[in-house]
Amino acid sequence: MKRIALLGATGSIGRQALEIIAAHPDLELAAAASGSQPIDGLAPLTQVGGDLTELLERAQPDVVLNAVVGFAGLPATLWSLERGVDLALANKESLVAAGELATSAWRRGGGRLLPVDSEHSAAQQCLEGRAPETVRSLVLTASGGPFRGRSREELGDVTPAEALAHPTWNMGPKITVDSATLANKGLELIEAHFLFGLDYEQIEVVIHPTSTVHALVRFRDGAALAHFGYPDMRVPISFALTYPDRAATPVPPLDLASGLTLEFAAPDLETFPLLALARRAGEQGGTYPCAFNAANEVAVAAFLEGRLPFLGIAETVEETLASVEGAPARNLNEVVEANAEARRLAERTAATA
Ligand SMILES: NC(=O)c1ccc[n+]([C@@H]2O[C@H](COP(=O)([O-])OP(=O)(O)OC[C@H]3O[C@@H](n4cnc5c(N)ncnc54)[C@H](OP(=O)(O)O)[C@@H]3O)[C@@H](O)[C@H]2O)c1
Repeated sequence: MKRIALLGATGSIGRQALEIIAAHPDLELAAAASGSQPIDGLAPLTQVGGDLTELLERAQPDVVLNAVVGFAGLPATLWSLERGVDLALANKESLVAAGELATSAWRRGGGRLLPVDSEHSAAQQCLEGRAPETVRSLVLTASGGPFRGRSREELGDVTPAEALAHPTWNMGPKITVDSATLANKGLELIEAHFLFGLDYEQIEVVIHPTSTVHALVRFRDGAALAHFGYPDMRVPISFALTYPDRAATPVPPLDLASGLTLEFAAPDLETFPLLALARRAGEQGGTYPCAFNAANEVAVAAFLEGRLPFLGIAETVEETLASVEGAPARNLNEVVEANAEARRLAERTAATA
């Protein structure tokens, strides 16, 4: 029996995780947390907001599923990794903001870090058991979001409702907007760097509109392994929670006879500059990825509240990154300070955009 602490239980990932846990007799929901919605009685231990590591201390789970959105997920990520408690990680922002701290804690703790992001779950399955020197590159696929194929001029007045209409995935509002700007793929690029120890030049991004191939790994002998499936988050959630058993899910196998096409294209980095900005922040390292994430969180919230136009999201992030002074990110205080500083700068930039 695996005792699970589900953080972000009311969200898109959280609700699908509840379905997986309920269907699997070897999984037990030991604790659950939300940010503000009431969840009394959902699990033996519950907590709404506050310091989620207090809930984890009380619950002492076997697996933490961190499905909180944003930087708020960081303490729970570090708590799990430091103690060697298996971490099923949907909260990519924590790994982006504090990748070096998190990977050091992971090494010390010695537990499993199982990504729930579908691309990283796929990549981990393609990479498992392969010698690092045989891997040439990892290819992350991106649907391109609802605005794929549009020019910059056509994005000037798009509304939050339009940005929230994702063509292939049904997700929470923040990640849906991130998919529309390609910031999500930028976050995933940095996430992959820390998860798999790959250099940035070894990580490629391609547009793949149907989201059927979730990741692809190229090897030095010219072969490539790809991971296919319908875009359904219950697969990577179940894979992470039941690892290494790969339990059954209700998701049907791919219907290959139904005219499945494999279409790939290069991303349009001029129209969607956040992907290139993330790559640069990742390469700069230190607190730059944290600043990228913080500025993006502020800008997405401003866009969703109608305070910032869609194109202002990338402008806010770019201006923030140009203004911050990068530092090495040696400890949690430095990361928390870098996050706060980038948020202040981004709020100011967004207010004048
Ligand atoms: N959705 C997907 O398909 C998908 C795919 C890959 C990765 N992810 C990642 O998974 C994470 C969650 O995404 P989502 O789409 O599920 O988001 P979501 O639907 O917006 O849900 C977010 C969850 O986080 C909780 N939360 C927010 N702030 C919190 C805080 N300070 N303390 C505790 N809980 C807090 C929310 O609680 P309240 O409801 O009470 O506010 C909610 O349960 C994100 O990092 C996202 O990038 C999601």
